[in-house]
Amino acid sequence: MKWFNNILSKMVPHMPRFAVGIVAKKYIAGVTLDETVVAIKKLNEDGFLTTTDILGENIPDIEASQKPVNAYLELLDTIKECNLNSGISVKLSQLGLTHDIEMAWDNFQKIINKAKNLNIFVRIDMEDSPWTDHTLGFYRRARTEYQNIGTVIQAYLFRSNIDIKEMIMDGKTNLRICKGIYKEPKDISMHDRSEISNNFFNLVKLCLDNHAFVGIATHDLELIERCKIYIYEQNITKDKYEFQALLGVPVRNTLKRLVSEGHQVRYYVPFGEDWYAYSMRRLKENPDIAGYVFKDLFNIFHK
Ligand code: FDA
Repeated sequence: MKWFNNILSKMVPHMPRFAVGIVAKKYIAGVTLDETVVAIKKLNEDGFLTTTDILGENIPDIEASQKPVNAYLELLDTIKECNLNSGISVKLSQLGLTHDIEMAWDNFQKIINKAKNLNIFVRIDMEDSPWTDHTLGFYRRARTEYQNIGTVIQAYLFRSNIDIKEMIMDGKTNLRICKGIYKEPKDISMHDRSEISNNFFNLVKLCLDNHAFVGIATHDLELIERCKIYIYEQNITKDKYEFQALLGVPVRNTLKRLVSEGHQVRYYVPFGEDWYAYSMRRLKENPDIAGYVFKDLFNIFHK
């Protein structure tokens, strides 16, 4: 079946929107905030923490940033009112970073000021490499006023080890380590899967050894196990790390086991109208999904 899914995955860029919609259902909590509240409550009841993301990135102009800013402010109020155990994840390109850096900062500040008042954690997602310095810059700048904030480090970038060392030097640090999802040039990034995995593990160790909080964001079962063993060997306390996964990736049993073993596990829960680009990324990530879509389509047409 692998070869068949591989052929299907080559067809991914040409898939009609409604077929991608079938995929989206697996990876997003819903289109509306109400649907998302229901999904988060269920995850919280099952013992998972969440971080909620409003889908959308690379807005066409700076004016388009007002809508996501207002949506994030409403999301923060809702998290508080519904007593959800959730932080938020924010992409700076959705706030206008690629158009006007200072206006993007103003937008971001509105969000962190509200989050600060409501005591809700804010994570800045990491986007492609032209924006790494700016993203880390926003993180540093925000942290002078607000402690309940973190960002993301991508294990495939050569620079990541130094970035972490620089951040660890200046006090309390909260980082999510992930492999990295964007296509990056070879002179700045690793392309070999085992090299990336080894670097991921080393970066997690670097954080843990230096008392930085680390979000271990991977569905790679071997890597999860390696990190877990290190955590046990070093007697790392539960307030210093958590495991993180994207909603919809089929690792639910592993995550449930981690929770039952007493580890904190956080789901990344995206929602919103802009589900298309996100679902396409998830589709490209795993050829097997193209097979599920094909199966779902087949079922639809044979009902
Ligand atoms: P890998 O790709 O090796 O996958 C491990 C296993 O999981 C494989 O069996 C694979 O098939 C399966 N799998 C992976 N993705 C799947 C999918 N979509 N559907 C079904 N199965 C799948 N990246 C980034 O650049 N900036 C960011 O801010 C973030 N944020 C982020 C938050 C969280 C909570 C997670 C888990 C991930 C991210 N990422 C990210 C994405 C990350 O960089 C990476 O691309 C994906 O997590 C896939 O890498 P894995 O570590 O899971 O390993």
